Amino acid sequence: MTSEVRVYQREDLSKPCKRVLIANSKGGSGKSTLATNLAAAFARKEYETTLVDCDPQETSLFWLNQRSGENPIIYGMSGAPQPSRPTLDWFLRVPRTTERLVIDSPGDIDSARLTSMVDKVDLILVPLLPSAIDIHATTEFIKNIFLTGSFRNSGKQIFVVGNRVHRRNKYFHQLNRFLRALNISDIIHLPDSYVFLRCADEGLGVIDLEPGNPRIRREYRAVEHLVETVETALNREEQTV
Ligand SMILES: Nc1ncnc2c1ncn2[C@@H]1O[C@H](COP(=O)(O)OP(=O)(O)OP(=O)(O)O)[C@@H](O)[C@H]1O
Ligand SMILES: [Mg+2]
Repeated sequence: MTSEVRVYQREDLSKPCKRVLIANSKGGSGKSTLATNLAAAFARKEYETTLVDCDPQETSLFWLNQRSGENPIIYGMSGAPQPSRPTLDWFLRVPRTTERLVIDSPGDIDSARLTSMVDKVDLILVPLLPSAIDIHATTEFIKNIFLTGSFRNSGKQIFVVGNRVHRRNKYFHQLNRFLRALNISDIIHLPDSYVFLRCADEGLGVIDLEPGNPRIRREYRAVEHLVETVETALNREEQTV
């Protein structure tokens, strides 16, 4: 039985679908790392989870192909642009039982595509590497999101996730000043760690690893905090609808 058939057999359609877009025009900032870790955490919470890879490089789908069947199921699909199809054609193919939709976007996303995606989601996560160049590029990117009609006055939330953070590095403080200037009170950091590379190779999220293992405590806590922050934001949004 394929996972796609399994998804359609589920009877409880009562829970609404929440959609999270992971985006930053800066390449290598950690979009796919965030997308795959978030999808794994949602699946472990027993949400019907769909991971859409809009990057032609298909990093997230590659990750999903490595994932063993012993881990909670994630439904994967490509959202990469096709010459003969409308930009958001994939949106119509998302399984209707999906409760959590995670969208991994490419670095070179153009503003028309970004606008149409922002329009379709509840929450936007922007991973950011702590360096002067990345902070500069990301400031422009976030400004563009703030200026899109589909974001302004929509009540949608945006979180910046400081990725590959070293607390003793001077850019850590620059990153935090930047986040405070954006009025983001709940700062999310992911440490720079080999654990993320290992998980990327094995089709795992950090949350799939053994929780009590002292060697991954820092990474596990960081991902837990990320997921709790995202869930709180999605649930708050649900209550205000
Ligand atoms: N917190 C981290 N610690 C260690 N390595 C990391 C971390 N986050 C990401 N990486 C590694 O950095 C590289 C780039 O990350 P990733 O592929 O997630 O970025 P991306 O924004 O999706 O890149 P692209 O713009 O090419 O799609 C990958 O090799 C990934 O495993
Ligand atoms: Mg990527």
